[in-house]
Amino acid sequence: MRVFDTTLRDGDQMPGVELDFYDKIEILRALDELGVDIIEAGFPASSDIDRKAVRAAVKETSRAKIAALARAHPRDVDEAAAAEAHIIHVFIATSDVHMKYKLRMTRSQVIERAVEAVERARSYGATVLFSAEDATRSDPGFLVKIYRRVVEAGAGYINIPDTVGTATPWYMEWLVSLIRRSLPSWVWIDVHCHDDFGMATANTLAGVRAGADGVQVTVNGFGERAGNAALEEVVAALHYLMGRTTSIRMELLTPISRLVASKFGVETPPNKAIVGRNAFAHEAGIHVHGILKNPATYEPLPPESVGNRRRIVLGRHSGRAAVEWALKNIGVDPEPDLVKYILDKLKEYAPRMKKVSEDIIVKWINEYTRQERV
Ligand code: KIV
Ligand code: ZN
Repeated sequence: MRVFDTTLRDGDQMPGVELDFYDKIEILRALDELGVDIIEAGFPASSDIDRKAVRAAVKETSRAKIAALARAHPRDVDEAAAAEAHIIHVFIATSDVHMKYKLRMTRSQVIERAVEAVERARSYGATVLFSAEDATRSDPGFLVKIYRRVVEAGAGYINIPDTVGTATPWYMEWLVSLIRRSLPSWVWIDVHCHDDFGMATANTLAGVRAGADGVQVTVNGFGERAGNAALEEVVAALHYLMGRTTSIRMELLTPISRLVASKFGVETPPNKAIVGRNAFAHEAGIHVHGILKNPATYEPLPPESVGNRRRIVLGRHSGRAAVEWALKNIGVDPEPDLVKYILDKLKEYAPRMKKVSEDIIVKWINEYTRQERV
């Protein structure tokens, strides 16, 4: 599966986030090392930073191809070509609501504009990717028509965006298979899903099931409004749940999540799938007991395989196994009376504490030892 990362373009459109040129280059290098196939480095016609970032990206990356976004306007296409992007990503909206209120164009004018932009981008010798913005709210018949016309005009690569995240997995599967069947088999097809209803990952996987051969994602799912399909979720699910391969170095997923979060100045929630601090943390007694016997009982995949780590957290729900484990970890013999003492302390004090740190456990061990001596 091809992985197209748009953290530096759609991700950068996250409200309140302003990446500077140097942030972009640092993220770009990390994405290249991660193994993504295509990096959308920016929208050259939109800002100087993006223009410079796309130009620099072509030189900075050793493996990934660089894409640049362009509206279906001659100036945008020229800017993307001037930045020397390998892939010019042309887009225009195709839903009735966008055509009527935003573009004020008819369907035939939209097709004409798309074809002209694709031909112009082709004339620069770049690979042309065409996106029908708001595809999932567009008339499917019109969508097939415009995709066929842009392919005839030279776009060998198309993208099906769920721009406002309103698709369901079953609709996505139906739509992608319709488009797959309607285009020559050599055309590359990506899906690009937003997370407004929390279904971006599920919709992306549904698109893959229906024949898409590429996924468009952002690290941590950062992006406009509720964001995009998260790279780490999509890649891990493709690998572990669908048996599909990508070129991603899975062990770098958590490190890049942390890097991107710090550059964006946005903390990821602790329960974030795959890369969150709690993604492999266990507290409940039954769970910890299982994990210590065999991690597969409560872990869907090995945490190290995605660069994360297992944490056993002590709290009110902890059982004997967790306390024994914590004591051994500190280098203390988990004798039964000490374990009981710590369990009682946890039941009494943990609900009032935000977090039971190792220092507190050591304090309770010392208290117990002093009592024993008296
Ligand atoms: O969500 C969207 O429709 C987009 C396009 C520009 C591909 O980001
Ligand atoms: Zn988008």
